[in-house]
Amino acid sequence: MRTHYADQLSLNHINQTITVCGWVHRRRDHGGVIFIDVRDRSGFVQVVFRPEQTELFELAKTLRSEYVVQVTGVVNARPEGMANQQLGNGAIEIVASELQVLNQAEPPPFPLDDAHVGEDVRLKYRYIDLRRSEQLKKFTLRAAMNRYIRTFLDEQGFLEVETPYLMKPTPEGARDYLVPSRVHQGHCYALPQSPQLFKQIIMMSGFDKYYQIVRCFRDEDLRLDRQPEFTQLDIEASFIDETYIFDTMEALYRGLFKTLLNVDLPQPFPRMTYAEAMRRYASEKPHIRIPHELVDIADLVKQVEFSVFAEAAQADEGRVVALRVPNAADMSRKQLDDYAEFVKIYGAKGLAYIKINDASQLPEGLQSPIVKLLDPATLAAILERTQATTGDLLFFGASPKASVVNDAMGALRIKLGHDRKLLTRDWAPLWVVDFPMFEKNDQGQWSPLHHPFTSPKDTNPQALRDDPGHSLARAYDMVLNGFELGGGSIRIHNQALQQAVFDLIGIHPALAEQKFGFFLEALKYGCPPHGGIAFGLDRVAMLMTGSDSIRDVIAFPKSQTAMCPLTQAPGRVDALQLAELGLELTEIMP
Ligand code: AMO
Ligand code: AMP
Repeated sequence: MRTHYADQLSLNHINQTITVCGWVHRRRDHGGVIFIDVRDRSGFVQVVFRPEQTELFELAKTLRSEYVVQVTGVVNARPEGMANQQLGNGAIEIVASELQVLNQAEPPPFPLDDAHVGEDVRLKYRYIDLRRSEQLKKFTLRAAMNRYIRTFLDEQGFLEVETPYLMKPTPEGARDYLVPSRVHQGHCYALPQSPQLFKQIIMMSGFDKYYQIVRCFRDEDLRLDRQPEFTQLDIEASFIDETYIFDTMEALYRGLFKTLLNVDLPQPFPRMTYAEAMRRYASEKPHIRIPHELVDIADLVKQVEFSVFAEAAQADEGRVVALRVPNAADMSRKQLDDYAEFVKIYGAKGLAYIKINDASQLPEGLQSPIVKLLDPATLAAILERTQATTGDLLFFGASPKASVVNDAMGALRIKLGHDRKLLTRDWAPLWVVDFPMFEKNDQGQWSPLHHPFTSPKDTNPQALRDDPGHSLARAYDMVLNGFELGGGSIRIHNQALQQAVFDLIGIHPALAEQKFGFFLEALKYGCPPHGGIAFGLDRVAMLMTGSDSIRDVIAFPKSQTAMCPLTQAPGRVDALQLAELGLELTEIMP
């Protein structure tokens, strides 16, 4: 229907008759002449309707925003001084000779150039929202990202293999989305939380190097970087170790960022142990662009009068930390209160602070409700350890449960980094390594930090059983700017060790047989050593496009309550459909 896209037109087309198709982006009536901007996927072009062509002019008068049109006309140079330097085709316009209104449109629910429309409205009318040029840019980058990844991995000898969506549940730690079976009533498929077991079985099949860009499904609490369905770049390779994963994946991301953003990522990416990440940043995905770090002071405050500190310092699982905020001694009462409120979201009981008005005058130079409860020697030791000087502010987190301090102070560190514009670099990737194999869950049961197929560093099953709490995993995460981009591990390829891990996490032999019998059996038939990783591509696309949420880089994302705002999914099903599945609702929600 068209001869050209808008952005293909230029002074080279003067006097040519061309046809463009698109939407009426804007209409302006100027002294008896009608201008419309026709918008297509490539951009805009200005079309002029002159009153001399009466019939055409009358039709042009009926045009409204978002009408779909086909316009034929002659390309003209714009009059002297009327060129729009912002547009590639700003020196020309089309003088219309034919106009077809291909479709009318109701006034859009929001103007396309309004940047302040609420997300709920934008997602309900996602087709309008996606008409905006910045949206197309994001999805174009995302497509280019997939293309780059496929080419890179193909060149490295990886084979793209599809794995089932209707499958047995695999344990990635979230709730499953279940699909009831009609044929096998009372049985359900689970949608994959990841293709973990299949990719390992592909290694046992001798395919050597596998990848897949694959949708995964997890019924978990949603956040800005979590959706119920999301896309992984899933990778597995045989006869490799951590070095191969680090080198290959770093090369992939360096190439991707250089090609699409002209950004040079470091070579190699820094590596940090899990223990160090928790100590310095209270996070397993440290945001290392923010320079200030947490400093442990429990050993300094065990005996102080301030019981909040002393009790936390004496508790086995306790933690007391200080966070130095440079040049923040002038922070207002209101700001201090707001930060104290902020840490409460993470379970902290309070947020003690000390303003250092004059570091040479202890304790008079310090301003804080807790100074009188800390002796001068302790205060001096705290200042020395945190390197705090005149003009700085110290925040403190203390709890008999280290996890509370980590959650609260880790989040506070990032918030302060953004609020006070302390970010140092644009891109700061790193690997976090040496994760513990297990953590104790709320029921006091060992549970895997990654997943139960991850190999411990010490592969002696007895050593693992003897001291699971100190066992380290051959697991690694790639972190970028405080987001976990991906995680993976070298896997267990030995049946006895796999059984030992299942035992430790409370999957006794009968249950292991029922859930993973096929997998344990496969391990007996010649499984190569193997390992892999999976990246959240929505997160990669979010960061690369500078978006605030992965919802921005998903064409039809779910809302915070896991609903599709456009189609209103999930929907009710009628009784007949349920009966076919052998299901019955005990309570029908409105
Ligand atoms: P993991 O569970 O760490 O590992 O997931 C890998 C990556 O997937 C992304 N991700 C998500 N993105 C958006 N929404 C979600 N709900 C969501 N959940 C996870 C993250 C994460 O780093 N099978 C293992 C990988 C392996 O061991 O090879 C796995 O799935 O970016
Ligand atoms: P209080 O003893 O409750 O008056 O608290 C004195 C100061 O310590 C206040 O600034 C509180 O916000 C702070 N505070 C209370 N509990 C904690 C805690 N667990 N960690 C850090 N600061 C706290």
